[in-house]
Amino acid sequence: MTHRIGVIGGDGIGPEVVAEALKVARAAGVELEEVPFDLGGSRYLATGEVLPADELERIRHLDAVLLGAVGTPDVPPGVLERGLLLRLRFELDLYVNLRPFLAGPGRHNDGADFVVVRENTEGVYAGEGGFLRKGTPQEIATQGSVNTRHGVERCVRFAFALARGRERHRLTLVHKTNVLTFAGDLWQRTFGEVAADFPDVDTGYDHVDAAAIHLVADPDRYDVIVTDNLFGDILTDLGGAIAGGIGRAASGNLNPDRTGPSMFEPVHGSAPDIAGSGRADPRAAVISAAMMLEFLGEDEAADRIAKAVGSSEDVAGTTSEIGDAIAERL
Ligand code: IPM
Ligand code: MN
Repeated sequence: MTHRIGVIGGDGIGPEVVAEALKVARAAGVELEEVPFDLGGSRYLATGEVLPADELERIRHLDAVLLGAVGTPDVPPGVLERGLLLRLRFELDLYVNLRPFLAGPGRHNDGADFVVVRENTEGVYAGEGGFLRKGTPQEIATQGSVNTRHGVERCVRFAFALARGRERHRLTLVHKTNVLTFAGDLWQRTFGEVAADFPDVDTGYDHVDAAAIHLVADPDRYDVIVTDNLFGDILTDLGGAIAGGIGRAASGNLNPDRTGPSMFEPVHGSAPDIAGSGRADPRAAVISAAMMLEFLGEDEAADRIAKAVGSSEDVAGTTSEIGDAIAERL
């Protein structure tokens, strides 16, 4: 079966690492039809377009999307983030951002093997708020956190189902219920109610500030973490730092209901300073592609790629040499 994959290489090192990810996926024996999209900072600077409606429409009918990175220094902050990346997450209803972390013993701890389920369509990312009296001394800026019962529950349910399928079947809610007494209350109540449907999953709760310490000092405490959009954004950068660096951090923006394609991307950015130098590590993109294949039902290929990346710690070289070495180790 051939999978139709939308490929958004994007900017900087994005196209370079995506090329290696696709190379490795093919070497694992998976048939892919690539549908390229020229989206990102370069396109915006050349044409003023961020995500034209007809291209979004074509993306809706694909099996999955693989994205490298978007962002160039000349584009004002927010244009590509809101207009492309977040727009795709919202329009395609990619309500789970799944970020796995795996690391051997490190400087601060004995190793980690946990997954963060980050809510991906609500919270402060929803864009609620605005200015009053902008530019005056009386200026007011508000930015609210939107939390719907529906949005929280579907994310929490996904996390419980994921935890049920893992060896330790343990799920921790991370929030800030002691201060965010409205949003936190909704999350905690929902978590408690859904837990009744998953009696085989052990549950826990940590405040997000405490979780930041535990992630560094005792990450083994975590198996699956479920958390809101902004906490998940911050904690997963921390996760990257403790688990092999940002060059290993992969993610899947999932539409678990499969009403459209899911989108897979390395957590790192476009790194314009090293673009074209061959110094980008493609591993995060390769792991993201493995997550994509797993989501598409290609479990065996996904597993082989994950193992090949795991056994490639000794490999150094250029972006494409690392890609070749991983492909050879399949
Ligand atoms: C991420 C990124 C994005 C986010 C930015 C680029 C909008 O930091 O995927 O973690 O905040 O979600
Ligand atoms: Mn982030």
